[in-house]
Amino acid sequence: MSSWLLLYIIVLALASSSTAYTISDCSALVSFYQAMTVNTKWTTSTGWVTTDDCCSWYGVTCSYSTRNGTGFGPWVSALQLPNNQLSGYLPSSFSLLSRLERLDLSHNKVKGDISVLLQMKASSVCIDTATSQIPDTVFESACNSDLNCLGGVCSVVGGLKEIRLSDNMLNGTIGEEISNLFKTLTILDLSANELTGPIPAMIGTLTQLVELNLYYNQLRLSNSSGPIPEMIGMLVKLKYLNVAFNLLNGTLPSQNLPPV
Ligand SMILES: *[C@@H]1O[C@H](CO)[C@@H](O)[C@H](O)[C@H]1NC(C)=O
Ligand SMILES: *[C@@H]1O[C@H](CO)[C@@H](O)[C@H](O)[C@H]1NC(C)=O
Ligand SMILES: *[C@@H]1O[C@H](CO)[C@@H](O)[C@H](O)[C@H]1NC(C)=O
Ligand SMILES: *[C@@H]1O[C@H](CO)[C@@H](O)[C@H](O)[C@H]1NC(C)=O
Repeated sequence: MSSWLLLYIIVLALASSSTAYTISDCSALVSFYQAMTVNTKWTTSTGWVTTDDCCSWYGVTCSYSTRNGTGFGPWVSALQLPNNQLSGYLPSSFSLLSRLERLDLSHNKVKGDISVLLQMKASSVCIDTATSQIPDTVFESACNSDLNCLGGVCSVVGGLKEIRLSDNMLNGTIGEEISNLFKTLTILDLSANELTGPIPAMIGTLTQLVELNLYYNQLRLSNSSGPIPEMIGMLVKLKYLNVAFNLLNGTLPSQNLPPV
């Protein structure tokens, strides 16, 4: 091997280890891309997995924050790939995108169940105010108060705000863990999928929810078709509700219903 080649390899290794971007977020996106291109090619895939900086890839938005002049991030805050020929199962590693706020994969062929998304809740983490350039480790440790965040501040990050998955091939049930997203979720659009089982009662805990679209699935209450859970009536901010074309029957609970 020539010494030039060796030098080239060392330079490459140094260059890739010093990337300024959130490495765990980018590698979660690489797994997502591999899972969603098994038998298909995306309509648009500019940048995907060909450069280290996933913030520049098509459909990816990153955020950055500053507190008192100290910068944190960037991290992946939105993934928007509607109508782009995605096909495959959501990998479990998707939940590593722990600071994702907006997800739009509408009009694709995303399969599997949505349980991985229901884990992506807001978390309290220690932000180290002494370092400005450590996008991954900044968010590592959990905290309950500034007292167990010595040298840093306790801050809430992430939590899915918008889930748009209309017109895919998702199956399985909507778990009661949906309540994990109670602090943040404003839009839940799972219309035109193959979801089964009951609408979970815990849906009533999503106090920030503005839009709930479960149109055209096979949802029901318990084992027989039945009424829409009373708890939907507790969604005080709800402005749009569509549960048509399911196996539900009965009347809507009357509390706080949005005007039809
Ligand atoms: C930011 O600075 C202000 C005033 O200097 C201080 O009161 C506040 O605690 C600081 N906030 C953080 C998060 O360090
Ligand atoms: C979801 O669909 C897959 C096939 O695409 C199947 O293997 C799996 O059993 C289904 N899951 C449920 C809960 O129906
Ligand atoms: C649904 O039906 C199955 C089998 O018929 C039964 O084992 C299960 O306990 C039922 N679940 C509920 C919530 O009634
Ligand atoms: C809903 O469907 C169930 C099972 O078919 C039936 O027993 C019940 O009477 C129906 N309720 C209403 C309000 O139509």
